[in-house]
Amino acid sequence: MAHVSDLIASDIEQYLKHHEHKSLLRFITCGSVDDGKSTLIGRLLYESKMLFEDQLAAVEADSKKFGTQGDNIDFALLVDGLAAEREQGITIDVAYRFFSTDKRKFIVADTPGHEQYTRNMVTGASTADVAILMVDARKGILTQTRRHSYLVTLLGIRHVVVAINKMDLVAYDEKTYDRIVEDYRAFAARIGIEGMTFIPMSAFRGDNIILPSDAMPWYHGTTLMGYLETVEVDDTRLQRTPFRMPVQWVNRPDLDFRGFAGTIASGTIAPGARIRVQPSGKESSVARIVTMDGDLARAVSGQSVTLTLTDEIDVSRGDVMSEATAPAEIADQFECTIVWMHEEALLPGRPYLLKIGTRTVTATVTSIKHQINVNTLEHIAAKKLELNAIGECNLSLDRQIAFDRYADNRDTGGFILIDRLSNNTVGAGLLNFALRRAHNLHAQHVDVDKHARSAIKGQKSCVLWFTGLSGAGKSSIANMLEKKLHAMGCHTYLLDGDNVRQGLNKDLGFTDADRVENIRRVGEVARLMADAGLIVLSAFISPFRAERRMARDLVAEGEFVEVFVDTPLAIAEQRDVKGLYGKARRGELKNFTGIDSPYEAPESPDIRIDTTSLSIEAAADLVIATLETRGVLPRH
Ligand code: ADX
Repeated sequence: MAHVSDLIASDIEQYLKHHEHKSLLRFITCGSVDDGKSTLIGRLLYESKMLFEDQLAAVEADSKKFGTQGDNIDFALLVDGLAAEREQGITIDVAYRFFSTDKRKFIVADTPGHEQYTRNMVTGASTADVAILMVDARKGILTQTRRHSYLVTLLGIRHVVVAINKMDLVAYDEKTYDRIVEDYRAFAARIGIEGMTFIPMSAFRGDNIILPSDAMPWYHGTTLMGYLETVEVDDTRLQRTPFRMPVQWVNRPDLDFRGFAGTIASGTIAPGARIRVQPSGKESSVARIVTMDGDLARAVSGQSVTLTLTDEIDVSRGDVMSEATAPAEIADQFECTIVWMHEEALLPGRPYLLKIGTRTVTATVTSIKHQINVNTLEHIAAKKLELNAIGECNLSLDRQIAFDRYADNRDTGGFILIDRLSNNTVGAGLLNFALRRAHNLHAQHVDVDKHARSAIKGQKSCVLWFTGLSGAGKSSIANMLEKKLHAMGCHTYLLDGDNVRQGLNKDLGFTDADRVENIRRVGEVARLMADAGLIVLSAFISPFRAERRMARDLVAEGEFVEVFVDTPLAIAEQRDVKGLYGKARRGELKNFTGIDSPYEAPESPDIRIDTTSLSIEAAADLVIATLETRGVLPRH
């Protein structure tokens, strides 16, 4: 057992050579563990004889001990066993397994976990040529099958195998198979899947995996292995796409050498080729293609190289090098499709980090155009995207980036979204097209600037951001503070939640999404007022760290002072000045902060006011003392 090929024993050189020239097929299996995914992968590995003796012996022994399959080998144990090893590392979501036959080499993206999260699938699918959708013959097409199908087409996989598994458990019934095929075709027609192949099988018994099944004489199609070995995939497509290389790092070991290292995402490159560095737009020509094994005359997509240029131009990490005659597009606003992968919903207006290629920028969804119901493909209105939701959104970045449409280039058109506080990957997306609306807008120069405006008032611009529970005392302290500042001759403005919500933000309620939008607008208003040279006092619950951070980032370094009005819930509730806690407890008021809506206390506020020990007046004085040390106030 475990001889990959007889050639290995007789002529290793010959074997390796043959192996090197075999084409490579990347595929992904989609389905939950129950659908027989692990069993299928296990069987493919076993049949292709890529298992080592010791692994095999272990599985045979385990099958006897724990297996669910009597004396037969339980292939699921094999794959799950490998998964368990891997899970000790925890961070890897997708395992890539390699195997080969005499005809081809294969890499299968195995997405572990009993609950198969979309996140794993998206990661695995983004490089796959073929997707195998596992369907349990007893259950037929499920929501999950539809979701996976939708994602598969969305991610640009052109070949789909619908593996109708566990045929042994439906007595190899042709009618059952036909019904599932019909169901699936009806759905597939609507999402535009191009190449579809249906195979009835039993991964467990081996029917139609490697050899045609005797149990299903009515099926005349290919076996799964037959399909995988022969399906034609266009692996030169990427090389025919224009050259793109996101710059990973600038390599400057000494003054004589300056190289730009990265992995070529698409196309080919050779010395002499004209390239454009994006988004700056500067152009130059490739001087050398440097690798560890010497210079190359040509490099293609997938290769990691260091390029040197004939001119000294500015290039930094995150830039994209493009073919000068077919450059990427540049934009900072997009229409995109987002697959949300986190338990905490995506909220429009909230800033996330967006990583595309080697560049990371700040991004906000400005609006969710609609969410897609993966069962019916209907467009539904949505104010947020929950876990596993897919939505079409408008996206705005804090900077311009170089990109291609995902449909043209998966590498330069696909992105992930990262939570700014936890650093978790929370979403994945595809850029559909650039929104041109910002294209005709240019920053207009004004001569009287913030410094001129604040200087004439004899003060420095400042945003005092009060946050805390409802009834904590934010408004009272801010009010007292404004009175004192006014008496000192300061120019101030107090933005108060209850007041702003009766005007500018009249359209907003108290859902998480509305609160995010509330604070986004107030942050922008505070920024404008700081720009006008004012000392701005803003008193909003502002329950989320992400938006308070956004408000801070909108103004200049040092201009933002976060004041945490720290009143414990029990005390705010006891005071209940407006009677709202009572209403909330009686169930007459929904989404009330602290009761059934969260409050994320600041971790390191600039000023913390303990209202249980400090009077309103003393609290205001505490803030004034801070403003004095920061040089915000007029000299007296
Ligand atoms: S925030 O969460 O979006 O920052 P904001 O400070 O603007 O809230 O408004 C809070 C004020 O609205 C409270 O002081 C209270 O008077 C009133 N209010 C009405 N409904 C709610 C609610 N469900 N949760 C919190 N405050 C509410």
